[in-house]
Amino acid sequence: MTAPADHETVLIVDFGSQVTQLIARRLRENGIYCEIHPYQKADAALIDALRPKAVILSGGPCSVEDEGSPRADDRIFSLGVPVLGICYGQMVMVHQLGGKAEGGHHREFGRAFVKMEEDSELFAGIARPGEAAEVWMSHGDRVTKLPKGFHVQGASANAPYAVLADPARKFYGVMFHPEVVHTPRGGQILANFTHRIAGLKGDWTMAAYKDQAIAEIREQVGDGRVICGLSGGVDSSVAAVLIHEAIGDQLTCVFVDTGMMRANEAEEVVGLFRDHYNIPLVHADESERFVTALEGVTDPETKRKTIGKLFIDVFEQHAKEAGGAEFLAQGTLYPDVIESVSFSGGPSVTIKSHHNVGGLPERMNMKLVEPLRELFKDEVRALGRELGLPDAFVGRHPFPGPGLAIRCPGEITGEKLDILRQADAIYLDEIRKAGLYDNIWQAFAVLLPVRTVGVMGDGRTYDHVCALRAVTSVDGMTADYFPFPHDFLGRTANRIINEVRGINRVVYDVTSKPPGTIEWE
Ligand code: XMP
Repeated sequence: MTAPADHETVLIVDFGSQVTQLIARRLRENGIYCEIHPYQKADAALIDALRPKAVILSGGPCSVEDEGSPRADDRIFSLGVPVLGICYGQMVMVHQLGGKAEGGHHREFGRAFVKMEEDSELFAGIARPGEAAEVWMSHGDRVTKLPKGFHVQGASANAPYAVLADPARKFYGVMFHPEVVHTPRGGQILANFTHRIAGLKGDWTMAAYKDQAIAEIREQVGDGRVICGLSGGVDSSVAAVLIHEAIGDQLTCVFVDTGMMRANEAEEVVGLFRDHYNIPLVHADESERFVTALEGVTDPETKRKTIGKLFIDVFEQHAKEAGGAEFLAQGTLYPDVIESVSFSGGPSVTIKSHHNVGGLPERMNMKLVEPLRELFKDEVRALGRELGLPDAFVGRHPFPGPGLAIRCPGEITGEKLDILRQADAIYLDEIRKAGLYDNIWQAFAVLLPVRTVGVMGDGRTYDHVCALRAVTSVDGMTADYFPFPHDFLGRTANRIINEVRGINRVVYDVTSKPPGTIEWE
Protein backbone atom coordinates (compact mmCIF):
# COMPACT_ATOMS: atom_id res chain seq x y z
CA MET A 1 0.00 0.00 0.00
CA THR A 2 1.36 3.44 -0.82
CA ALA A 3 0.35 6.62 0.91
CA PRO A 4 -2.36 8.49 -0.93
CA ALA A 5 -0.77 11.37 -2.78
CA ASP A 6 -0.84 14.72 -1.01
CA HIS A 7 -2.04 13.30 2.32
CA GLU A 8 0.00 13.56 5.45
CA THR A 9 0.48 10.02 6.66
CA VAL A 10 1.01 8.68 10.15
CA LEU A 11 2.73 5.30 10.41
CA ILE A 12 1.43 3.03 13.18
CA VAL A 13 3.93 0.30 14.05
CA ASP A 14 2.07 -2.73 15.39
CA PHE A 15 3.64 -4.72 18.22
CA GLY A 16 0.63 -7.00 18.55
CA SER A 17 -1.75 -5.12 20.85
CA GLN A 18 -5.40 -6.19 20.71
CA VAL A 19 -6.39 -2.56 20.21
CA THR A 20 -3.96 -1.33 17.54
CA GLN A 21 -6.82 -0.92 15.05
CA LEU A 22 -8.45 1.54 17.44
CA ILE A 23 -5.45 3.87 17.14
CA ALA A 24 -6.11 4.05 13.40
CA ARG A 25 -9.82 4.63 13.91
CA ARG A 26 -9.26 7.46 16.39
CA LEU A 27 -6.72 9.11 14.07
CA ARG A 28 -9.01 8.86 11.08
CA GLU A 29 -11.87 10.33 13.13
CA ASN A 30 -9.54 13.29 13.63
CA GLY A 31 -9.02 13.59 9.86
CA ILE A 32 -5.60 11.92 9.79
CA TYR A 33 -4.64 9.32 7.16
CA CYS A 34 -2.68 6.50 8.77
CA GLU A 35 -1.56 2.96 8.06
CA ILE A 36 -0.86 0.06 10.41
CA HIS A 37 2.15 -2.12 9.63
CA PRO A 38 3.61 -4.99 11.66
CA TYR A 39 6.93 -4.06 13.26
CA GLN A 40 8.88 -6.53 11.09
CA LYS A 41 7.75 -4.74 7.95
CA ALA A 42 8.04 -1.16 9.22
CA ASP A 43 11.55 -0.89 7.77
CA ALA A 44 13.56 1.61 5.72
CA ALA A 45 11.84 0.65 2.44
CA LEU A 46 8.37 1.16 3.91
CA ILE A 47 9.38 4.42 5.56
CA ASP A 48 10.76 5.68 2.22
CA ALA A 49 7.51 4.75 0.50
CA LEU A 50 5.18 6.24 3.13
CA ARG A 51 7.22 9.28 4.15
CA PRO A 52 5.31 9.47 7.45
CA LYS A 53 4.92 12.82 9.16
CA ALA A 54 4.65 11.12 12.57
CA VAL A 55 5.00 7.62 13.99
CA ILE A 56 3.01 5.83 16.70
CA LEU A 57 4.41 2.69 18.33
CA SER A 58 1.57 0.46 19.53
CA GLY A 59 1.25 -1.59 22.68
CA GLY A 60 1.94 -5.30 22.68
CA PRO A 61 1.94 -8.41 24.85
CA CYS A 62 5.75 -8.80 25.23
CA SER A 63 8.25 -7.50 27.74
CA VAL A 64 11.29 -5.67 26.34
CA GLU A 65 13.39 -7.98 28.50
CA ASP A 66 12.09 -11.09 26.72
CA GLU A 67 14.60 -12.69 24.41
CA GLY A 68 13.81 -11.82 20.82
CA SER A 69 11.08 -9.35 21.82
CA PRO A 70 10.14 -6.90 19.05
CA ARG A 71 11.96 -3.65 18.36
CA ALA A 72 11.24 -0.67 16.15
CA ASP A 73 13.48 0.08 13.19
CA ASP A 74 16.13 2.47 14.56
CA ARG A 75 15.58 4.79 11.59
CA ILE A 76 12.24 5.80 13.05
CA PHE A 77 14.06 7.77 15.75
CA SER A 78 16.27 9.66 13.29
CA LEU A 79 13.58 10.72 10.80
CA GLY A 80 13.11 14.04 12.55
CA VAL A 81 9.37 13.39 12.98
CA PRO A 82 7.39 13.16 16.23
CA VAL A 83 7.06 9.69 17.79
CA LEU A 84 4.44 8.56 20.32
CA GLY A 85 5.01 5.28 22.17
CA ILE A 86 1.99 3.63 23.78
CA CYS A 87 2.61 1.06 26.58
CA TYR A 88 4.97 -1.49 25.03
CA GLY A 89 5.74 1.18 22.42
CA GLN A 90 6.88 3.47 25.22
CA MET A 91 9.16 0.73 26.60
CA VAL A 92 10.65 0.08 23.17
CA MET A 93 11.38 3.77 22.71
CA VAL A 94 12.96 4.11 26.16
CA HIS A 95 15.01 0.96 25.65
CA GLN A 96 16.23 1.81 22.14
CA LEU A 97 17.15 5.39 23.04
CA GLY A 98 19.48 4.39 25.89
CA GLY A 99 17.14 4.20 28.89
CA LYS A 100 16.04 1.10 30.75
CA ALA A 101 12.74 -0.71 31.15
CA GLU A 102 12.24 -3.75 33.33
CA GLY A 103 9.66 -6.49 33.28
CA GLY A 104 8.60 -8.75 36.09
CA HIS A 105 5.97 -6.39 37.43
CA HIS A 106 2.34 -7.33 37.79
CA ARG A 107 0.37 -6.31 34.75
CA GLU A 108 -2.05 -3.58 35.70
CA PHE A 109 -5.37 -3.11 34.01
CA GLY A 110 -8.10 -0.58 34.37
CA ARG A 111 -9.06 2.90 35.32
CA ALA A 112 -6.44 5.26 36.73
CA PHE A 113 -5.84 8.98 37.08
CA VAL A 114 -2.77 10.63 35.65
CA LYS A 115 -1.75 13.75 37.56
CA MET A 116 0.18 16.25 35.45
CA GLU A 117 3.43 17.56 36.87
CA GLU A 118 4.05 20.18 34.18
CA ASP A 119 2.40 21.66 31.10
CA SER A 120 2.28 18.99 28.42
CA GLU A 121 1.45 19.53 24.76
CA LEU A 122 -0.08 16.05 24.83
CA PHE A 123 -2.57 17.08 27.54
CA ALA A 124 -3.29 20.57 26.21
CA GLY A 125 -6.91 21.46 26.94
CA ILE A 126 -7.27 18.31 29.08
CA ALA A 127 -5.23 18.70 32.28
CA ARG A 128 -2.92 21.43 33.52
CA PRO A 129 -0.14 20.99 36.10
CA GLY A 130 -1.67 19.68 39.33
CA GLU A 131 -4.81 18.45 37.54
CA ALA A 132 -5.65 14.81 36.81
CA ALA A 133 -7.09 13.06 33.77
CA GLU A 134 -8.87 9.70 33.71
CA VAL A 135 -7.10 7.03 31.64
CA TRP A 136 -7.20 3.28 31.02
CA MET A 137 -3.99 1.51 32.06
CA SER A 138 -2.63 -1.79 30.90
CA HIS A 139 1.04 -2.33 31.55
CA GLY A 140 3.58 -4.88 32.75
CA ASP A 141 7.02 -3.39 32.18
CA ARG A 142 8.19 -0.33 34.04
CA VAL A 143 10.72 2.34 33.06
CA THR A 144 13.66 2.42 35.49
CA LYS A 145 16.05 4.80 33.71
CA LEU A 146 15.12 7.60 31.34
CA PRO A 147 16.97 8.15 28.08
CA LYS A 148 18.86 11.43 27.68
CA GLY A 149 16.53 14.33 26.94
CA PHE A 150 13.42 12.69 28.50
CA HIS A 151 11.62 13.68 31.67
CA VAL A 152 8.36 12.79 33.40
CA GLN A 153 5.34 15.01 32.66
CA GLY A 154 2.67 13.06 34.52
CA ALA A 155 2.28 10.14 36.94
CA SER A 156 -0.43 7.94 38.36
CA ALA A 157 -0.55 6.14 41.71
CA ASN A 158 1.00 2.97 40.23
CA ALA A 159 2.78 4.38 37.19
CA PRO A 160 5.38 7.00 38.11
CA TYR A 161 6.35 7.27 34.42
CA ALA A 162 2.81 7.49 33.04
CA VAL A 163 3.66 10.35 30.65
CA LEU A 164 7.21 10.86 29.36
CA ALA A 165 8.45 13.51 26.97
CA ASP A 166 11.50 14.73 25.13
CA PRO A 167 9.85 17.91 23.81
CA ALA A 168 12.95 18.98 21.83
CA ARG A 169 12.78 15.86 19.63
CA LYS A 170 8.97 15.66 19.97
CA PHE A 171 9.18 12.14 21.39
CA TYR A 172 6.35 11.20 23.79
CA GLY A 173 5.53 8.03 25.68
CA VAL A 174 2.42 7.04 27.64
CA MET A 175 1.79 4.03 29.87
CA PHE A 176 -1.95 4.08 29.21
CA HIS A 177 -4.06 3.49 26.10
CA PRO A 178 -5.40 6.76 24.66
CA GLU A 179 -7.10 4.83 21.82
CA VAL A 180 -9.71 3.01 23.95
CA VAL A 181 -13.06 4.51 24.93
CA HIS A 182 -12.24 3.99 28.61
CA THR A 183 -9.74 6.86 28.27
CA PRO A 184 -12.47 9.51 27.95
CA ARG A 185 -10.29 12.26 26.40
CA GLY A 186 -8.08 9.79 24.48
CA GLY A 187 -9.17 11.07 21.06
CA GLN A 188 -8.11 14.58 22.12
CA ILE A 189 -4.75 13.29 23.39
CA LEU A 190 -4.10 11.67 20.00
CA ALA A 191 -5.27 14.83 18.22
CA ASN A 192 -2.86 16.85 20.36
CA PHE A 193 -0.09 14.55 19.16
CA THR A 194 -1.00 14.70 15.47
CA HIS A 195 -2.24 18.29 15.20
CA ARG A 196 -0.39 20.28 17.89
CA ILE A 197 2.86 18.36 18.18
CA ALA A 198 3.26 17.03 14.63
CA GLY A 199 1.50 20.06 13.09
CA LEU A 200 -0.69 17.96 10.74
CA LYS A 201 -3.70 19.61 9.16
CA GLY A 202 -6.13 16.69 9.32
CA ASP A 203 -7.05 16.72 5.63
CA TRP A 204 -8.40 13.15 5.42
CA THR A 205 -12.02 13.65 4.38
CA MET A 206 -14.36 11.40 2.46
CA ALA A 207 -14.71 13.97 -0.31
CA ALA A 208 -10.92 14.01 -0.74
CA TYR A 209 -10.79 10.22 -0.59
CA LYS A 210 -13.50 9.88 -3.20
CA ASP A 211 -11.69 12.11 -5.72
CA GLN A 212 -8.42 10.31 -5.15
CA ALA A 213 -9.99 6.83 -5.39
CA ILE A 214 -11.69 7.79 -8.66
CA ALA A 215 -8.36 8.96 -10.10
CA GLU A 216 -6.67 5.72 -9.00
CA ILE A 217 -9.41 3.52 -10.49
CA ARG A 218 -9.09 5.36 -13.83
CA GLU A 219 -5.35 4.90 -13.81
CA GLN A 220 -5.53 1.20 -12.93
CA VAL A 221 -8.30 0.26 -15.35
CA GLY A 222 -7.46 2.46 -18.35
CA ASP A 223 -9.96 1.52 -21.03
CA GLY A 224 -10.41 -2.02 -19.69
CA ARG A 225 -13.64 -3.59 -18.52
CA VAL A 226 -14.65 -4.30 -14.91
CA ILE A 227 -17.16 -6.81 -13.55
CA CYS A 228 -18.59 -6.32 -10.06
CA GLY A 229 -20.64 -8.89 -8.15
CA LEU A 230 -23.41 -7.08 -6.28
CA SER A 231 -24.75 -8.76 -3.16
CA GLY A 232 -27.04 -5.99 -1.96
CA GLY A 233 -24.67 -5.40 0.94
CA VAL A 234 -23.10 -2.04 1.69
CA ASP A 235 -19.54 -2.86 0.64
CA SER A 236 -20.19 -4.14 -2.87
CA SER A 237 -22.81 -1.43 -3.46
CA VAL A 238 -20.46 1.40 -2.49
CA ALA A 239 -17.62 -0.13 -4.53
CA ALA A 240 -19.89 -0.38 -7.59
CA VAL A 241 -21.16 3.19 -7.40
CA LEU A 242 -17.63 4.53 -6.88
CA ILE A 243 -16.23 2.56 -9.82
CA HIS A 244 -19.14 3.63 -12.00
CA GLU A 245 -18.43 7.25 -11.16
CA ALA A 246 -14.82 6.65 -12.25
CA ILE A 247 -15.24 4.67 -15.47
CA GLY A 248 -18.94 4.82 -16.35
CA ASP A 249 -20.20 2.01 -18.52
CA GLN A 250 -16.87 0.17 -18.62
CA LEU A 251 -18.38 -1.36 -15.46
CA THR A 252 -20.96 -4.14 -15.56
CA CYS A 253 -22.58 -5.36 -12.35
CA VAL A 254 -23.84 -8.89 -11.91
CA PHE A 255 -26.49 -9.58 -9.29
CA VAL A 256 -26.98 -13.30 -8.77
CA ASP A 257 -30.36 -13.99 -7.19
CA THR A 258 -29.72 -17.24 -5.35
CA GLY A 259 -33.32 -17.52 -4.21
CA MET A 260 -31.94 -17.22 -0.67
CA MET A 261 -32.60 -13.47 -0.55
CA ARG A 262 -34.89 -11.61 1.81
CA ALA A 263 -38.27 -10.29 0.69
CA ASN A 264 -37.96 -7.56 -2.01
CA GLU A 265 -34.17 -7.74 -1.93
CA ALA A 266 -33.71 -8.39 -5.63
CA GLU A 267 -36.20 -5.68 -6.63
CA GLU A 268 -34.52 -3.15 -4.35
CA VAL A 269 -31.01 -3.86 -5.63
CA VAL A 270 -32.01 -3.94 -9.28
CA GLY A 271 -34.16 -0.83 -8.89
CA LEU A 272 -31.40 1.13 -7.21
CA PHE A 273 -28.63 0.26 -9.61
CA ARG A 274 -30.42 0.00 -12.90
CA ASP A 275 -33.03 2.72 -12.53
CA HIS A 276 -31.51 5.16 -10.05
CA TYR A 277 -27.84 4.99 -11.06
CA ASN A 278 -28.27 3.73 -14.61
CA ILE A 279 -25.45 1.22 -14.10
CA PRO A 280 -25.35 -1.69 -16.58
CA LEU A 281 -26.64 -4.60 -14.53
CA VAL A 282 -27.16 -8.28 -15.23
CA HIS A 283 -29.96 -9.63 -13.02
CA ALA A 284 -29.41 -13.38 -12.98
CA ASP A 285 -32.39 -15.16 -11.43
CA GLU A 286 -30.83 -18.52 -10.58
CA SER A 287 -33.05 -19.39 -7.63
CA GLU A 288 -34.27 -22.68 -9.14
CA ARG A 289 -30.71 -23.85 -9.68
CA PHE A 290 -29.71 -23.09 -6.10
CA VAL A 291 -32.81 -24.63 -4.52
CA THR A 292 -32.34 -27.77 -6.68
CA ALA A 293 -28.65 -28.05 -5.75
CA LEU A 294 -29.61 -27.87 -2.08
CA GLU A 295 -32.23 -30.61 -2.25
CA GLY A 296 -31.62 -33.17 0.49
CA VAL A 297 -28.70 -31.18 1.98
CA THR A 298 -28.98 -30.74 5.75
CA ASP A 299 -25.38 -30.40 6.95
CA PRO A 300 -24.52 -26.69 7.45
CA GLU A 301 -21.00 -26.94 6.01
CA THR A 302 -22.20 -28.87 2.96
CA LYS A 303 -24.85 -26.18 2.44
CA ARG A 304 -22.26 -23.41 2.53
CA LYS A 305 -19.90 -25.28 0.19
CA THR A 306 -22.67 -26.14 -2.26
CA ILE A 307 -23.80 -22.52 -2.43
CA GLY A 308 -20.24 -21.17 -2.66
CA LYS A 309 -19.28 -23.47 -5.52
CA LEU A 310 -22.47 -22.93 -7.49
CA PHE A 311 -22.18 -19.18 -6.97
CA ILE A 312 -18.77 -19.14 -8.62
CA ASP A 313 -20.02 -21.24 -11.57
CA VAL A 314 -23.05 -19.04 -12.09
CA PHE A 315 -21.15 -15.79 -11.67
CA GLU A 316 -18.47 -16.88 -14.13
CA GLN A 317 -21.10 -17.84 -16.69
CA HIS A 318 -22.94 -14.51 -16.49
CA ALA A 319 -19.71 -12.49 -16.45
CA LYS A 320 -18.67 -14.21 -19.69
CA GLU A 321 -22.10 -13.64 -21.24
CA ALA A 322 -21.81 -9.95 -20.35
CA GLY A 323 -18.74 -9.74 -22.59
CA GLY A 324 -15.99 -10.70 -20.17
CA ALA A 325 -13.60 -8.34 -18.40
CA GLU A 326 -9.99 -8.19 -17.27
CA PHE A 327 -10.89 -6.73 -13.87
CA LEU A 328 -13.03 -7.99 -11.00
CA ALA A 329 -14.19 -5.45 -8.40
CA GLN A 330 -14.43 -6.46 -4.75
CA GLY A 331 -15.55 -4.61 -1.63
CA THR A 332 -12.56 -5.72 0.49
CA LEU A 333 -12.15 -3.55 3.62
CA TYR A 334 -9.09 -2.43 5.58
CA PRO A 335 -9.63 -4.81 8.53
CA ASP A 336 -9.39 -7.67 5.99
CA VAL A 337 -5.99 -6.61 4.72
CA ILE A 338 -4.24 -5.49 7.90
CA GLU A 339 -1.48 -7.93 8.64
CA SER A 340 -1.80 -8.53 12.33
CA VAL A 341 1.16 -9.52 14.47
CA SER A 342 0.70 -12.98 15.89
CA PHE A 343 2.62 -14.03 18.96
CA SER A 344 0.86 -17.30 19.60
CA GLY A 345 2.55 -19.08 16.72
CA GLY A 346 5.99 -17.54 17.13
CA PRO A 347 7.22 -14.62 15.08
CA SER A 348 5.03 -15.43 12.07
CA VAL A 349 2.60 -12.99 10.57
CA THR A 350 -1.02 -13.94 10.01
CA ILE A 351 -2.70 -12.43 6.99
CA LYS A 352 -6.45 -12.43 6.84
CA SER A 353 -7.51 -12.54 3.24
CA HIS A 354 -11.07 -11.96 2.27
CA HIS A 355 -12.66 -12.91 -1.01
CA ASN A 356 -16.25 -11.90 -1.54
CA VAL A 357 -16.37 -14.21 -4.52
CA GLY A 358 -13.47 -16.37 -3.40
CA GLY A 359 -11.53 -18.28 -6.04
CA LEU A 360 -12.87 -16.28 -8.99
CA PRO A 361 -9.92 -14.00 -9.78
CA GLU A 362 -7.54 -16.97 -10.21
CA ARG A 363 -10.05 -19.10 -12.09
CA MET A 364 -11.02 -16.34 -14.50
CA ASN A 365 -7.51 -14.91 -14.66
CA MET A 366 -8.69 -11.47 -13.56
CA LYS A 367 -7.01 -8.56 -11.85
CA LEU A 368 -8.65 -7.14 -8.73
CA VAL A 369 -10.02 -3.64 -8.26
CA GLU A 370 -10.48 -3.05 -4.52
CA PRO A 371 -11.20 0.63 -3.94
CA LEU A 372 -12.29 0.21 -0.30
CA ARG A 373 -9.21 -1.61 0.95
CA GLU A 374 -8.01 1.43 2.92
CA LEU A 375 -11.33 2.00 4.71
CA PHE A 376 -13.06 0.83 7.86
CA LYS A 377 -16.75 -0.14 7.70
CA ASP A 378 -18.00 3.17 9.11
CA GLU A 379 -15.83 4.99 6.55
CA VAL A 380 -17.40 2.93 3.76
CA ARG A 381 -20.80 4.11 4.98
CA ALA A 382 -19.56 7.71 4.98
CA LEU A 383 -18.25 7.24 1.43
CA GLY A 384 -21.61 5.77 0.40
CA ARG A 385 -23.34 8.91 1.68
CA GLU A 386 -20.78 11.07 -0.13
CA LEU A 387 -21.69 9.19 -3.32
CA GLY A 388 -25.37 9.88 -2.73
CA LEU A 389 -26.45 6.34 -1.82
CA PRO A 390 -29.77 6.50 0.07
CA ASP A 391 -29.45 6.27 3.88
CA ALA A 392 -31.66 3.19 3.92
CA PHE A 393 -29.08 1.39 1.78
CA VAL A 394 -25.98 2.67 3.53
CA GLY A 395 -27.31 1.73 6.98
CA ARG A 396 -28.40 -1.80 6.04
CA HIS A 397 -27.69 -4.67 8.39
CA PRO A 398 -25.05 -7.15 7.15
CA PHE A 399 -26.42 -10.15 5.26
CA PRO A 400 -24.43 -13.38 4.84
CA GLY A 401 -23.41 -14.67 1.41
CA PRO A 402 -25.32 -17.98 1.81
CA GLY A 403 -28.40 -15.94 2.69
CA LEU A 404 -31.55 -17.50 4.08
CA ALA A 405 -30.13 -21.00 3.53
CA ILE A 406 -28.24 -20.74 6.81
CA ARG A 407 -31.36 -19.37 8.57
CA CYS A 408 -33.36 -22.43 7.67
CA PRO A 409 -31.72 -25.31 9.58
CA GLY A 410 -32.30 -28.71 8.03
CA GLU A 411 -33.40 -29.27 4.46
CA ILE A 412 -34.34 -26.24 2.39
CA THR A 413 -37.45 -26.09 0.25
CA GLY A 414 -39.01 -23.27 -1.72
CA GLU A 415 -42.00 -23.39 0.62
CA LYS A 416 -39.88 -23.03 3.76
CA LEU A 417 -37.96 -20.12 2.24
CA ASP A 418 -41.27 -18.38 1.46
CA ILE A 419 -42.49 -18.81 5.04
CA LEU A 420 -39.17 -17.52 6.40
CA ARG A 421 -39.18 -14.50 4.07
CA GLN A 422 -42.65 -13.45 5.27
CA ALA A 423 -41.76 -13.80 8.96
CA ASP A 424 -38.48 -11.95 8.45
CA ALA A 425 -40.22 -9.06 6.65
CA ILE A 426 -42.77 -8.65 9.47
CA TYR A 427 -40.02 -8.73 12.10
CA LEU A 428 -37.97 -6.05 10.29
CA ASP A 429 -41.08 -3.97 9.70
CA GLU A 430 -41.84 -3.97 13.44
CA ILE A 431 -38.21 -3.11 14.23
CA ARG A 432 -38.32 -0.15 11.84
CA LYS A 433 -41.68 1.02 13.22
CA ALA A 434 -40.25 0.90 16.75
CA GLY A 435 -37.31 3.05 15.58
CA LEU A 436 -34.83 0.36 16.64
CA TYR A 437 -33.25 -0.61 13.29
CA ASP A 438 -30.15 1.55 13.69
CA ASN A 439 -29.56 0.42 17.28
CA ILE A 440 -29.17 -3.18 16.14
CA TRP A 441 -26.18 -4.75 14.32
CA GLN A 442 -28.30 -7.45 12.71
CA ALA A 443 -31.82 -8.81 13.14
CA PHE A 444 -33.42 -11.74 11.36
CA ALA A 445 -35.84 -14.62 11.64
CA VAL A 446 -34.86 -18.32 11.61
CA LEU A 447 -37.28 -21.07 10.60
CA LEU A 448 -36.71 -24.12 12.78
CA PRO A 449 -37.13 -27.69 11.53
CA VAL A 450 -39.40 -28.34 14.49
CA ARG A 451 -43.20 -28.50 14.50
CA THR A 452 -45.27 -27.87 17.58
CA VAL A 453 -48.94 -28.15 18.42
CA GLY A 454 -51.05 -25.04 18.71
CA VAL A 455 -54.66 -23.96 18.69
CA MET A 456 -56.06 -21.34 16.36
CA GLY A 457 -59.74 -20.54 16.22
CA ASP A 458 -61.28 -23.81 17.23
CA GLY A 459 -58.80 -25.98 15.42
CA ARG A 460 -55.56 -27.75 16.18
CA THR A 461 -52.42 -26.61 14.32
CA TYR A 462 -49.14 -28.44 13.87
CA ASP A 463 -46.69 -25.95 12.39
CA HIS A 464 -43.15 -24.60 12.39
CA VAL A 465 -41.39 -22.68 15.15
CA CYS A 466 -39.85 -19.35 14.20
CA ALA A 467 -36.89 -18.04 16.21
CA LEU A 468 -36.13 -14.31 16.23
CA ARG A 469 -32.56 -13.11 16.61
CA ALA A 470 -31.22 -9.58 17.11
CA VAL A 471 -27.74 -8.65 18.27
CA THR A 472 -25.59 -5.65 19.01
CA SER A 473 -21.97 -5.82 17.92
CA VAL A 474 -19.08 -3.63 16.81
CA ASP A 475 -17.52 -5.90 14.23
CA GLY A 476 -19.50 -9.15 14.22
CA MET A 477 -16.70 -10.92 16.12
CA THR A 478 -18.49 -10.74 19.46
CA ALA A 479 -22.13 -9.94 20.03
CA ASP A 480 -24.83 -9.49 22.69
CA TYR A 481 -28.49 -10.26 22.24
CA PHE A 482 -30.64 -7.15 21.87
CA PRO A 483 -32.89 -6.53 24.92
CA PHE A 484 -36.25 -5.83 23.22
CA PRO A 485 -39.08 -4.64 25.47
CA HIS A 486 -41.51 -7.52 26.13
CA ASP A 487 -44.39 -5.73 24.46
CA PHE A 488 -42.36 -5.48 21.25
CA LEU A 489 -41.72 -9.23 21.29
CA GLY A 490 -45.37 -10.01 22.05
CA ARG A 491 -46.64 -7.74 19.28
CA THR A 492 -44.20 -9.14 16.70
CA ALA A 493 -44.91 -12.77 17.63
CA ASN A 494 -48.64 -12.12 17.32
CA ARG A 495 -48.30 -10.61 13.89
CA ILE A 496 -46.09 -13.43 12.60
CA ILE A 497 -48.41 -16.16 13.86
CA ASN A 498 -51.52 -14.39 12.56
CA GLU A 499 -50.12 -13.36 9.18
CA VAL A 500 -47.79 -16.20 8.19
CA ARG A 501 -49.37 -19.52 7.35
CA GLY A 502 -47.05 -22.31 8.51
CA ILE A 503 -45.78 -20.76 11.77
CA ASN A 504 -47.65 -21.25 15.04
CA ARG A 505 -44.97 -20.47 17.63
CA VAL A 506 -42.30 -17.76 18.02
CA VAL A 507 -39.30 -17.79 20.36
CA TYR A 508 -36.57 -15.20 21.00
CA ASP A 509 -32.87 -16.17 20.98
CA VAL A 510 -30.99 -14.68 23.98
CA THR A 511 -27.58 -16.23 23.25
CA SER A 512 -24.51 -14.00 23.07
CA LYS A 513 -21.43 -14.64 20.90
CA PRO A 514 -19.43 -16.39 22.18
CA PRO A 515 -20.62 -19.03 23.05
CA GLY A 516 -23.16 -18.83 20.20
CA THR A 517 -22.56 -17.42 16.75
CA ILE A 518 -24.77 -14.78 15.16
CA GLU A 519 -26.14 -17.02 12.41
CA TRP A 520 -27.61 -20.38 13.36
CA GLU A 521 -25.53 -22.35 10.87
P1 XMP B 1 -21.34 -15.64 12.74
O1 XMP B 1 -22.55 -16.43 12.43
O2 XMP B 1 -20.07 -16.33 12.35
O3 XMP B 1 -21.44 -14.35 11.81
O4 XMP B 1 -21.29 -15.17 14.16
C1 XMP B 1 -20.66 -13.19 11.94
C2 XMP B 1 -21.06 -12.21 10.86
O5 XMP B 1 -20.70 -12.72 9.57
C3 XMP B 1 -21.85 -12.88 8.74
N1 XMP B 1 -21.64 -14.13 7.97
C4 XMP B 1 -21.27 -14.16 6.68
N2 XMP B 1 -21.03 -13.17 5.81
N3 XMP B 1 -20.54 -14.77 4.11
C5 XMP B 1 -20.69 -13.48 4.51
O6 XMP B 1 -20.50 -12.58 3.67
C6 XMP B 1 -20.76 -15.83 4.94
O7 XMP B 1 -20.62 -16.97 4.55
C7 XMP B 1 -21.15 -15.49 6.29
N4 XMP B 1 -21.44 -16.25 7.37
C8 XMP B 1 -21.75 -15.40 8.40
C9 XMP B 1 -23.01 -12.95 9.70
O8 XMP B 1 -24.22 -12.58 9.08
C10 XMP B 1 -22.57 -11.99 10.78
O9 XMP B 1 -22.77 -10.64 10.40
